[in-house]
Amino acid sequence: MKLSGRKAIVTGAAQGIGNAIARKLYSEGCTLALLDINGPGAKKAAAEFDGCFGIRCDVSSVPDVSNAVKESVERLGGLDILVNNAGILDSSPIAEVTEALWDRIMAVNLKSVFFMVQQSLPFLKKSGHGRVVNISSVSGRMGGFEAGLGYSASKGGIITLTMGFARQLAPYGITVNAVCPGTTETAILKEFTPETVEKLCNLIPLHRLGKPEDVADAVSFLASDDASFITGLLMDVNGGMYMG
Ligand SMILES: NC(=O)c1ccc[n+]([C@@H]2O[C@H](COP(=O)([O-])OP(=O)(O)OC[C@H]3O[C@@H](n4cnc5c(N)ncnc54)[C@H](O)[C@@H]3O)[C@@H](O)[C@H]2O)c1
Repeated sequence: MKLSGRKAIVTGAAQGIGNAIARKLYSEGCTLALLDINGPGAKKAAAEFDGCFGIRCDVSSVPDVSNAVKESVERLGGLDILVNNAGILDSSPIAEVTEALWDRIMAVNLKSVFFMVQQSLPFLKKSGHGRVVNISSVSGRMGGFEAGLGYSASKGGIITLTMGFARQLAPYGITVNAVCPGTTETAILKEFTPETVEKLCNLIPLHRLGKPEDVADAVSFLASDDASFITGLLMDVNGGMYMG
């Protein structure tokens, strides 16, 4: 087990990629706080893992983030790993994007990452081997195949935050990396028609959709001591969909 005794927070962990990340980190020896806007879902997911717990947290709300981080650290007894995974997908055409929609996407996908790191920082500094892994997207790397521009820009912003945090937190021994998934089989794909999903799958040289576990394996590696000299990396997990 590569993460024995490590304490982790995973956001958006009630289902999908976040849930697979929580499962993988648990299997490697972590104790976890599972945060999600779906509180009952987070608690139900956490009940599968001994010693872990779920907390309702809307990551777009700074008070929610602050309270959830404090409660997590108190109950875990510290913090070594933060995985910023919670996100929402939108594929609205340019003309249909309202100000409210734009603000919501930025708040959930991007603002959340900044404030989750800010609030976690005092505890990650104490860890001695702090790790932050942010879930961006292939859309953040190249502007989006079918995703809307708000979504793509929010995921591009995560890449910028990843590199900036990596530089600024290196003196504390904290590494900050991003995983950029391609089209991955989760409920988020209901934003697309089946025809669009098929079109996206045809863009993948390995010719299958990603699985949540593909992303979880990458996160687990970046959170481990094997990746202790890797920081500011954008790790594409996309079957070759985009090679940058
Ligand atoms: N599935 C894909 O094709 C794909 C591709 C690239 C990137 N991603 C990214 O992976 C991450 C996980 O997505 P997924 O595919 O598992 O989707 P999902 O919809 O299955 O899961 C997202 C989770 O985030 C939670 N969430 C949503 N808004 C929240 C909020 N305000 N506060 C707290 N939790 C919130 C949801 O309740 C849900 O449990 C997202 O950031 C997404 O952008 C997914």
